[in-house]
Amino acid sequence: MSNMSAVILAAGEGKRMKSNKSKVLHAVAGKTLVDWVYDAVKAAGVEQIAVVVGHKADQVTAHMAGKVSFPMQKEQLGTGHAVVQALPFLPTEGHIIILAGDTPLITSQTIKAALQAHEMANNAATVITVDLKDPTGYGRIIRDASGNVQKIVEHKDCTESQLTVTEINSGIYCFEAQALIHSLSQVTNQNAQGEYYLTDTLEILIQQNMQVQAFKIEDDEQLLGINNRIQLAQAECIMRKRIVHKLMEDGVTVIDPNTTYVAATVSIGMDTVLYPGCVLEGNTTIGEDCQIGPNARLVNATIKNDVEVQYSVVLDSEIDEQTHVGPYAYVRPGCLIGKRVKIGDFVEVKKAIIGDDTKLSHLTYVGDATLGKRVNMGCGTVTVNYDGKNKFQTIVEDDAFVGCNTNLLAPVTVGKGAYIAAGSTITDNVPSEALAIARARQTVKDGWAKGKTKNT
Ligand code: UD1
Ligand code: MG
Repeated sequence: MSNMSAVILAAGEGKRMKSNKSKVLHAVAGKTLVDWVYDAVKAAGVEQIAVVVGHKADQVTAHMAGKVSFPMQKEQLGTGHAVVQALPFLPTEGHIIILAGDTPLITSQTIKAALQAHEMANNAATVITVDLKDPTGYGRIIRDASGNVQKIVEHKDCTESQLTVTEINSGIYCFEAQALIHSLSQVTNQNAQGEYYLTDTLEILIQQNMQVQAFKIEDDEQLLGINNRIQLAQAECIMRKRIVHKLMEDGVTVIDPNTTYVAATVSIGMDTVLYPGCVLEGNTTIGEDCQIGPNARLVNATIKNDVEVQYSVVLDSEIDEQTHVGPYAYVRPGCLIGKRVKIGDFVEVKKAIIGDDTKLSHLTYVGDATLGKRVNMGCGTVTVNYDGKNKFQTIVEDDAFVGCNTNLLAPVTVGKGAYIAAGSTITDNVPSEALAIARARQTVKDGWAKGKTKNT
């Protein structure tokens, strides 16, 4: 549709959230409420967008800087008052779509369809509505005997009989610009909340014989408004289901959608299997043919093809093809892990580069380290990277073999192909292809124990 702009209302106090954070910055499936609305409007083809800010304005402007304009509503006197603040930022011709920043489940398809209906019918205003089993808290759509929209009445202003109406106002509308400007100037605050309601514009237009219609949709999940944490959790549940369904449509196997949490920002390749208990967040990308979970948390992880991660946590790190992680491994931020690597049980790695075919099979800590290719880190190996004040680097070159229970006191380098005897505490560099033994020599005292055990 041509000459289309949008206003997203995000100035409200969000009292019912009981939060220090602006309501619209709370997240659903890893994306803020206002970003969901913004992305849906953008995807519907609207370029010019204003976000009305007020309560906790700094937080919202910092979050959306550079993407939209920010009309300021200094006092939160209602949704109608909020839109008035936005008018100087919008064209005075064409059409203006208005959305609440707390309605994250609306899809771009619904917005597009509503815009099309609005344009086809040549409406002054079109409001998106739906029937809800429990309409508590929402504005009700009041129709006359022939079914035409008459007005919207807020829950708190409803009469007994109006409260029984199940068709609700989504808070999403399309207005012809002049009709909006003209009707807003006539809105008063004579109502239960003493606010300037945007919803009153519809009755004003109807009384002036302008055409106002409802665009009623079937899917009641799309119009859930988030006013409290219970609705936030409901939205999370719906959005998560949507995301997981899309993944399955795109060729990802999800064994148990009910226990699989994937943020909107995550991408996953074909034939990857998500076992129960996956929590995938941030800018995580997962390749094809991977097996993730059971019980894996990945945050900003880049996982290439054919990788297995079970019962483990991976944060801000990259893992290359055919590598196995877990069970019970902790990959902390800053790791670059190569191909065919094994990060086994009870292994922790942090800020480490680990070369192809290297094995950390069990019970090992590697932090602030660079390991070459085909290195074997024996069970119980520890990089001793911290002296209480500073962190130091450990380097283990290609093909080195580090025996079990070794301490590598950083800064230290173990050369190419070197061997370290089990139980060593290595304080000095080990040259290539050398053997280092750094432990007390064993003494054996023959017969020493005779007569000391109870039964002799
Ligand atoms: C509003 C509608 C109601 C509708 C419901 C749908 C009005 C009067 N009521 O009620 O009919 O069923 O949404 O979810 O419009 N805001 C401002 N400035 C203000 C007040 C609010 O920017 O002065 C913003 C809020 O940040 C929020 C949006 O407007 O994003 C809606 O406000 P909210 O207080 O949540 O209105 P509801 O009571 O949900
Ligand atoms: Mg609301």
